[in-house]
Amino acid sequence: MKKLVLILFLSSIFLTQAAHGFDFHEKELETEESLWKLYERWRSHHSVPRSLHEREKRFNVFRYNVMHVHNSNKKNKPYKLKLNKFADLTLHEFVNAYAGSNVKHHRMFHGPKLGSGRFMYENVTKTPVSVDWRAEGAVTEVKNQGQCGSCWAFSTVAAVEGINQIKTKKLVSLSEQELVDCDTYQNQGCNGGLMEIAFEFIKRNGGITTEENYPYKATDGRCDASKDKGELVSIDGHESVPENDEEALLKAVSNQPVSVAIDAGSSDFQFYSEGVFTGYCGTELNHGVAAVGYGVDPDGTKFWIVRNSWGAEWGEGGYIRIERGISDSEGKCGIAMEASYPVKLSSSNPEASDDGIKDEL
Ligand SMILES: *[C@@H]1O[C@H](CO)[C@@H](O)[C@H](O)[C@H]1NC(C)=O
Repeated sequence: MKKLVLILFLSSIFLTQAAHGFDFHEKELETEESLWKLYERWRSHHSVPRSLHEREKRFNVFRYNVMHVHNSNKKNKPYKLKLNKFADLTLHEFVNAYAGSNVKHHRMFHGPKLGSGRFMYENVTKTPVSVDWRAEGAVTEVKNQGQCGSCWAFSTVAAVEGINQIKTKKLVSLSEQELVDCDTYQNQGCNGGLMEIAFEFIKRNGGITTEENYPYKATDGRCDASKDKGELVSIDGHESVPENDEEALLKAVSNQPVSVAIDAGSSDFQFYSEGVFTGYCGTELNHGVAAVGYGVDPDGTKFWIVRNSWGAEWGEGGYIRIERGISDSEGKCGIAMEASYPVKLSSSNPEASDDGIKDEL
């Protein structure tokens, strides 16, 4: 008996590693009963609590999603889908909960882009064939925004962490919660926001504090300026990448991680697992992420390396490679429509005063 338990334990570990998480077999889709078993297995794998009543409803959504994943994977596509933690959510629920930063909506309220119009990389003529800021030590561990539409804060912070490491040689994980709680004049915490506004907040605030000083709570809270202590990471402002121009985006990303907005509102995006994403997505920007590199697949497909904020279980360890250089100038999923990056001139950072730096506006 003990032996059997051990073998099951080991085989489940093996299965888990072999399939980057949760895998299933065609046989499990054959009957209602086997699908229910699969649902329960998925629920326990991802520790998704559901009441008995809820399970009945969720099972039907799950079944629909399983079929989408299965049918997509059967086709010879360059990317694969998987039953991740979103597998019993409808697309509508998923978009509302995890891609809820309606960038277009915010942009309409705030008018044209805030950048100076200058693009410091416009005269860059040589760009490497591939760039990966993760390998340069300019990218922190993948984070998880939870059920809060704060992707804009994660996108902003990833770009600031990046330029800070490039300028100071120190990789410091920074606080999304400070942006959620304190950058509330125009941005709206868990209800969405714009990265450009967040860059300007960080500039005005004299910097942003560390993740450790001001940890992430996945909920709107009161701004606690006393958490601005020790060394803050400062920036001198931001610029936007000329829009609908993937070449310009390439010049920027070859120099630093860049905040980009995308349309993440499709089932293919919801269940993305690995490979170069060539699946369906529109250009209704609803999600803020960070472009931390680019490259070319052995078969010649070009891609962007995009850091998401849905935890390391989603996609390729929390990342997605999105097809690059498609004929639409907006870029795949609208990646070239709303890109911006922080400008940091100094190779050192200011020290916060004892009572914390207060927002001047
Ligand atoms: C790019 O080059 C042009 C022509 O030399 C120059 O006027 C412009 O200021 C340069 N742009 C930047 C951002 O350095």
